[in-house]
Amino acid sequence: MALLASTSLLLAGLYLRTTSSVQISETPSQAAGHPPVFTLPPSADRGKNILPNIKDPKAIDPQTVCPGYKASNLQDTKDGFTADLDLAGPACNVYGTDVEHLALSVEFQGDDRVHVEIRPRYITPGNETWFLLPEELVPRPSARQAYTPGPNDLTVSWSNDPSFSFTVKRGAIGDTLFSTEGKRLVYEDQFIEFISTLPEDYNLYGLGEVIHGFRLGNNLTRTLFAADVADTIDANIYGSHPVYLDTRYFTVDESGKLTYVANAKDMAAKYVSYTHGVFLRNAHAQEILLQSSGITWRTTGGSIDLYFYSGPKAEDVIRSYQQSTTGLPAMQRYWTLGFHQCRWGYDSWAVLQEVVDNFAKFEIPVETVWCESHSSAPRMGRNDPVRFGYEEGARFLAQLHANHQHYVPIVDSAIYAPNPENPGDAYPPYDRGVEANAFMMNPDGSIYYGAVWPGYTVFPDWVGAVLNGSGAIDWWIDELSRWSEKVAFDGLWIDMSEVASFCVGSCGTGNLTLNPVHPPFGLPGEAGNLVLQYPEGFELTNSSEAVSASSALSTQEAASPTTASPTSSFYRTTPTPGVRNVDWPPYAINNIHGDLAVHAVSPNATHHGGYLEYDFHNMFGHQILNATYRALLKIHEGKRPFIIGRSTFAGSGKWAGHWGGDNAALWAYMYFSIPQALSFSLFGVPMFGVDTCGFGGNSNYELCSRWMQLSAFFPFYRNHNILGAIPQEPYVWASVIDATKTAMRIRYALLPYLYTLMARASLEGSTVMRALAWEFPDEPWLADADRQFMLGRAIMVTPCLEQGASTVRGVFPGVGDGGKKTVWYDWYTGKAVTDEIKPGQNVTIEAPLGHIPVYLRGGSVVPVQGPGMTTTESRRNPWGLIVALDREGFAEGELYLDDGESLEPAAVTWVQFTATNTSITAVPQGDYVDNNTFGNATVMGLAKGPVRMWLNRRVLDHANWQYDQDRAVLLLYGLNHLFPQGAWTDKWEINWE
Ligand SMILES: *[C@@H]1O[C@H](CO)[C@@H](O)[C@H](O)[C@H]1NC(C)=O
Ligand SMILES: *[C@@H]1O[C@H](CO)[C@@H](O)[C@H](O)[C@H]1NC(C)=O
Repeated sequence: MALLASTSLLLAGLYLRTTSSVQISETPSQAAGHPPVFTLPPSADRGKNILPNIKDPKAIDPQTVCPGYKASNLQDTKDGFTADLDLAGPACNVYGTDVEHLALSVEFQGDDRVHVEIRPRYITPGNETWFLLPEELVPRPSARQAYTPGPNDLTVSWSNDPSFSFTVKRGAIGDTLFSTEGKRLVYEDQFIEFISTLPEDYNLYGLGEVIHGFRLGNNLTRTLFAADVADTIDANIYGSHPVYLDTRYFTVDESGKLTYVANAKDMAAKYVSYTHGVFLRNAHAQEILLQSSGITWRTTGGSIDLYFYSGPKAEDVIRSYQQSTTGLPAMQRYWTLGFHQCRWGYDSWAVLQEVVDNFAKFEIPVETVWCESHSSAPRMGRNDPVRFGYEEGARFLAQLHANHQHYVPIVDSAIYAPNPENPGDAYPPYDRGVEANAFMMNPDGSIYYGAVWPGYTVFPDWVGAVLNGSGAIDWWIDELSRWSEKVAFDGLWIDMSEVASFCVGSCGTGNLTLNPVHPPFGLPGEAGNLVLQYPEGFELTNSSEAVSASSALSTQEAASPTTASPTSSFYRTTPTPGVRNVDWPPYAINNIHGDLAVHAVSPNATHHGGYLEYDFHNMFGHQILNATYRALLKIHEGKRPFIIGRSTFAGSGKWAGHWGGDNAALWAYMYFSIPQALSFSLFGVPMFGVDTCGFGGNSNYELCSRWMQLSAFFPFYRNHNILGAIPQEPYVWASVIDATKTAMRIRYALLPYLYTLMARASLEGSTVMRALAWEFPDEPWLADADRQFMLGRAIMVTPCLEQGASTVRGVFPGVGDGGKKTVWYDWYTGKAVTDEIKPGQNVTIEAPLGHIPVYLRGGSVVPVQGPGMTTTESRRNPWGLIVALDREGFAEGELYLDDGESLEPAAVTWVQFTATNTSITAVPQGDYVDNNTFGNATVMGLAKGPVRMWLNRRVLDHANWQYDQDRAVLLLYGLNHLFPQGAWTDKWEINWE
């Protein structure tokens, strides 16, 4: 708790790319040598004073006033049943207008999946999209084609007593998964509520995007409304993923009877678990209340479009969710798994060159340099001619590409609207967009002008493009293509896509002649905006300086804008029958910015076709990824698009990866990166990583050293930092250089393993980063384990997440007789971790600075390759294998190979590995040719050393192996000459006796 308290104190003093800033200037800011720039007044971004419903003691509980529904006209269908639902009494109209007549449909869509849908029975033109999320934006999962209804694991029943309710059970064990029994269904045009009880001390995961422990707990409200905000704990942030996993643990008695356990204490008992998943296909602003009694789901529109996945393992649910519902994640190019360096403030080609040179000088791999700059561009389609000139850029990028390195620029979601009175301000992408009807509108059909970094801006209308055929997507493809002809970027980074706007409403209407204008808050580094935050924990080592630092912080805190005080009056609305209030819905969600129009495009902004932003707010970030994916397909023809996006929705993983947003250089955020990553595994976005070493505030060598090592085991590995903070590239501190190199050598050696995991994820929806509870489902004490994680099934990472610590406490799942007696090997020594460890036992592990504990799970064969300075170089190095034998002396693994970039590779090869305590076998299958030789292997857990060894029955020279009795490790090396054509051209076997 102390940690979190100091977190909030420090956060108050941080500069964040979003709203938070302490110095607010109402006067025009004056940059040296430039004419005065109009600064938006902070009042432009203020809305009404809203009291969220969940914090309002006077709020009406719909359960006390609404009548519920009665079901009738039950009809059996091929795969389920339908019924009519009619209001069971006088309308309550509590937060909208009750819909009197509803339709229920239950459809078993596969042997592990059932769909329960409740929607208005009569929908007339003009209001479909209030209720039905168009399939063109978010596809509806459909029944599996060859599915014939059979004995199903899930059952659905309903009751009219006292009003309509439905219950979903796991048939096999009779466990109730979801039941609205005893609660009233509320269905209005701006408010839906349904409630299910849940078992005591339930384990729920997901419902993102949120900064929270992995297990959500039994006392949390999750608000889903995309917001441009720093990574505020427990608040609504960038993405919306209305999906959860529910894991339940049972004890099993001798007769096989299952008993639910809430709080497993007895580590000697035998447990089993069942996990199911629930997805609500609804994109409206919504709130999910997790309370000890159960779950309350409230949305401000749409329908009840629920999907249940029976699992019974977490991996089964996640796979089924991705396969049937969201679509499988995009396969990434091999190079994207290299290390990425970014910062806000790499403000010219020359600076980027310097960064690349520094990495080379310190011999630290850097695969990609990124550019975030909001002042001097590159702005989509137009580079600043001085700092980012095209010719200089062409030279820089040619050299970068020749070195097998890459470049990714930021693309903001808003488009600058140039000053019509200043010909020098011309911005052709804007003019062409106007021409193409590419932008969102005001209700009267005029263009909506908000404000973002460059000044007054417009916003591409993806929804209109998808639903109404207006021009945004084609225009976007064209603009990015034009830009790519001048700047040979390798991927794109989509930012501000919630979609952010720094003022309420169309504040630029009539004001474009003021452009460019300054945001309504100071930027880091501007006059009067000192970045004076001391690194966290500074007081531990520098007590006197820390005193002045903390007094500066409290001054800052006092100056920060305060939220509504308890005495201020709140703006509340009551429903008008038949009329929706989209600006101030009667049900006020707990939005971090209060009023829905604050810091975002307003709910009454209008899409081509007449659709309101109110109904599609959570779609912007998802659909800009769709449009950008299509653009990159055109720009890099035949290649896999590489996109990292900020705002995501269920299904965004099929187009893009995600970074964790604006975190801070605090130890707490290094920890939060793990639960956030595990959640995105569940959401089908395996390409995930966070701003390593911290975005906001000043990092320090200890934090950065730990973090560079931790992120080396995340699929997306990027260091990123805010403007104005001290530098934090891995080469700025000597200890971080060493720590980084150590971790990067492991990461780059593991690239073939990581790439294989990514391939499996994109082919079948398995996960890359995994929770311990997913891999070891029979250990209830792992339910909230989120300070350790697995990378695939073979590797466990137990990072040190605490300042000043040189040890870390961690568990070794699967050990002992209760588990399957998993054996774990230390990555660095190859030695098995002691036999004495008990299930669930917290073991103290040495973790001095510069060392990240990594373990190999017995039973795995992990393919590795010599680490190079780039992924291209690594891919040319000889192969190796790490064999970690299980207790029975067995191990297996696999390797995926292709050209590393083609959308549809012409040739692929899979290699299957098996090992025993007398052999290693590799069986390749496929036609991808890789000519690298096979150089070495390490076999861990071999009790007895060999006397003789053979490769394909040919005797191996004793000079090629060595056995270490003490560690029980067999090393094979110098085998390259035995594989002149390459490691995977034919089946081979090494055996010994
Ligand atoms: C919209 O939906 C409601 C509820 O289903 C319906 O009663 C109404 O007639 C519909 N049409 C319009 C234009 O509001
Ligand atoms: C739930 O959390 C809130 C604040 O986070 C706290 O005030 C409240 O007491 C908690 N309720 C329960 C039942 O623990």
